[in-house]
Amino acid sequence: MKFARFAALAALVFASLVSTQVLAADEASTTSASAPAVPGAVGEPGTTYSKHGADTCLECHDADADTPTFTTAGIFKGKHGQRRNSHSPFGQGGLQCEACHGPGDRHATQKTKRTLTIASQKPNSFQTPAQRNEACLTCHQGSTRNAWHGGAHDRAQLACTDCHKLHTDHDPVLTKKTEAEVCFRCHKEQRTQFQKPSTHPVSQGLMACSDCHNPHGSGAQAMLNKPTLNQTCFSCHAEKRGPMLWEHAPVSEDCALCHTSHGSVRPALLSKSPTMLCQSCHSVAGHPAVARTGAALPGNSGGGSIFLINGGCTNCHSQIHGSNHPAGAMLMR
Ligand code: HEC
Ligand code: HEC
Ligand code: HEC
Ligand code: HEC
Ligand code: HEC
Ligand code: HEC
Ligand code: HEC
Ligand code: HEC
Ligand code: HEC
Ligand code: HEC
Repeated sequence: MKFARFAALAALVFASLVSTQVLAADEASTTSASAPAVPGAVGEPGTTYSKHGADTCLECHDADADTPTFTTAGIFKGKHGQRRNSHSPFGQGGLQCEACHGPGDRHATQKTKRTLTIASQKPNSFQTPAQRNEACLTCHQGSTRNAWHGGAHDRAQLACTDCHKLHTDHDPVLTKKTEAEVCFRCHKEQRTQFQKPSTHPVSQGLMACSDCHNPHGSGAQAMLNKPTLNQTCFSCHAEKRGPMLWEHAPVSEDCALCHTSHGSVRPALLSKSPTMLCQSCHSVAGHPAVARTGAALPGNSGGGSIFLINGGCTNCHSQIHGSNHPAGAMLMR
């Protein structure tokens, strides 16, 4: 590792830093004994950045300090460790470790209460989620996070790091196959929905929650990617958009009048079983819902229709999303 080259030099400077900083800290603690806690007192985060950046940090946070679940060096395997990207923490002039962990000089030099002196970015830190997020938003405010502030996850006080892992070469939430697992940690009800017989292929890893939702917040209901529910669906089911010669009013209004988005025990994600679904809006008169009864269907005046098997209104009205056939007014062709 490149940093090793500087280790010896860093150690020298480090030693002198320790002595001066500890002195300064001691002074601060005696003079402020009766005063309310001042920022910068012993046991509080410092305000100065470490002069040698990561070289200082890596003196202690080397491979020996790694745990089975954490490696410091992991940060160099991801995009944040890129040195040629001038926007990355390790790009030229970047604050390196301290871009995310805040000023670390006091932490590096003070010998006690170390965890109180550095912003760990972990849930048990002394920072609120909003404070932790500030470090990230300094670089990531724009793009898909324009609506972060005020979005449901911001309101619920989530931290960026509730979803993102950074000291790793592989952040599970960024991969279609593993994203949903991260969401399911909190969204248990949705986990159940996606186990039903008819679902979008999320558990198969072919689709992700973020194909429909913006986890960073959006102006739409349920943080959908597009301004309306239907527009969200059209981004993949474009053939349902129309315009149709003969529209079926509820389709152009709201797909959710008939479909759930996450999962259903009925075919095609339907929110009710087919006959009940249709007859929640359409009168039963002239269109009985039971097959092979005496009651007639239109065009089948001899008796009950075998076509109703399985509640099959769509056996005849197959163009349920609208028709472009000149004689398609009844959505049959
Ligand atoms: C002189 C050794 C030393 C140096 C230099 C040092 N640290 Fe630490 N750091 C520690 C120790 C010891 C801990 C506490 C570990 C523990 O208690 O689990 C710690 C903990 C941390 C934590 C976790 C805090 C928490 O609440 O769990 C972070 C983050 C951290 N250091 C970042 C840094 C950064 C960034 C730098 C460079 C600016 C740095 N450290 C320099 C020794 C050092
Ligand atoms: C891009 C932001 C970012 C940078 C840069 C960064 N870290 Fe971290 N660090 C985090 C986050 C977020 C966590 C919380 C744990 C996690 O998500 O993996 C963390 C956790 C830690 C911890 C605590 C680990 C534990 O579980 O106790 C230490 C120690 C640490 N970082 C040291 C460093 C050092 C040293 C550097 C520089 C070589 C560095 N970090 C650079 C974001 C960053
Ligand atoms: C100093 C600026 C800076 C800070 C601070 C920073 N990032 Fe980044 N981040 C970047 C850059 C630059 C990239 C790479 C962008 C690219 O290549 O498209 C990046 C990429 C990412 C990515 C995408 C990684 C990938 O593999 O595609 C995620 C997720 C991310 N950052 C989250 C965070 C979080 C969470 C924090 C706060 C703990 C944070 N960042 C802090 C600059 C920063
Ligand atoms: C609820 C989980 C969640 C939270 C909280 C979250 N993210 Fe993300 N983030 C994702 C997912 C999922 C993706 C990949 C899909 C996408 O781009 O929408 C992603 C992608 C990213 C990317 C890379 C792609 C891009 O948009 O540039 C960056 C950078 C990023 N997030 C930064 C952040 C920052 C900064 C925060 C905190 C303000 C944050 N994220 C909070 C789930 C989350
Ligand atoms: C750390 C817990 C946590 C994680 C992880 C998480 N969420 Fe959430 N999410 C919440 C909370 C809390 C709310 C707000 C209360 C609620 O509606 O349940 C919420 C709300 C939502 C909403 C509803 C928004 C609204 O306006 O009603 C959506 C959609 C959502 N999350 C999607 C996701 C997706 C997608 C992921 C994964 C990329 C994810 N969440 C990961 C905790 C989490
Ligand atoms: C095919 C698009 C789509 C996918 C994929 C999807 N959702 Fe949704 N989700 C929606 C729609 C549409 C709504 C709004 C439902 C409504 O208001 O009728 C919604 C609503 C939600 C809500 C708000 C509560 C609710 O049920 O109304 C949460 C939370 C949520 N989704 C989480 C998730 C999670 C987590 C995933 C991934 C496992 C996911 N969604 C995948 C379309 C989708
Ligand atoms: C990111 C692309 C995408 C988006 C957005 C999307 N879908 Fe899908 N949809 C799919 C895929 C992929 C399938 C599975 C096709 C297959 O299995 O052959 C599917 C299947 C379906 C099915 C049939 C399910 C079955 O069991 O046969 C329905 C109904 C459906 N989607 C409705 C919707 C609705 C309503 C929305 C908007 C809330 C929506 N879709 C948004 C990609 C998408
Ligand atoms: C009036 C109720 C109703 C509405 C509203 C509705 N659908 Fe459907 N949809 C159905 C029925 C019923 C089926 C099953 C068709 C069958 O039995 O063959 C279906 C099947 C589907 C399928 C799977 C088969 C296919 O045709 O590809 C998709 C995808 C689909 N709908 C998408 C949508 C989208 C997108 C919207 C909103 C633009 C929507 N639906 C609105 C009733 C509806
Ligand atoms: C949310 C309410 C709703 C649901 C559910 C619904 N429809 Fe409709 N349907 C309508 C409306 C509104 C019209 C337009 C009626 C009009 O223009 O007079 C319509 C029109 C029709 C037409 C055209 C005939 C006409 O009078 O214009 C047929 C056929 C039809 N629907 C069949 C079905 C079938 C089959 C189902 C079940 C798969 C179904 N509908 C579910 C509301 C609904
Ligand atoms: C055997 C074929 C067939 C089946 C099955 C069928 N229909 Fe029809 N439906 C028709 C025909 C033919 C017409 C046109 C009658 C006309 O032109 O007067 C029609 C007309 C309609 C209309 C518009 C006129 C009216 O009666 O309001 C609606 C709505 C409708 N059907 C709904 C349904 C529903 C709901 C079901 C399921 C319970 C269903 N249909 C099952 C053949 C069928």
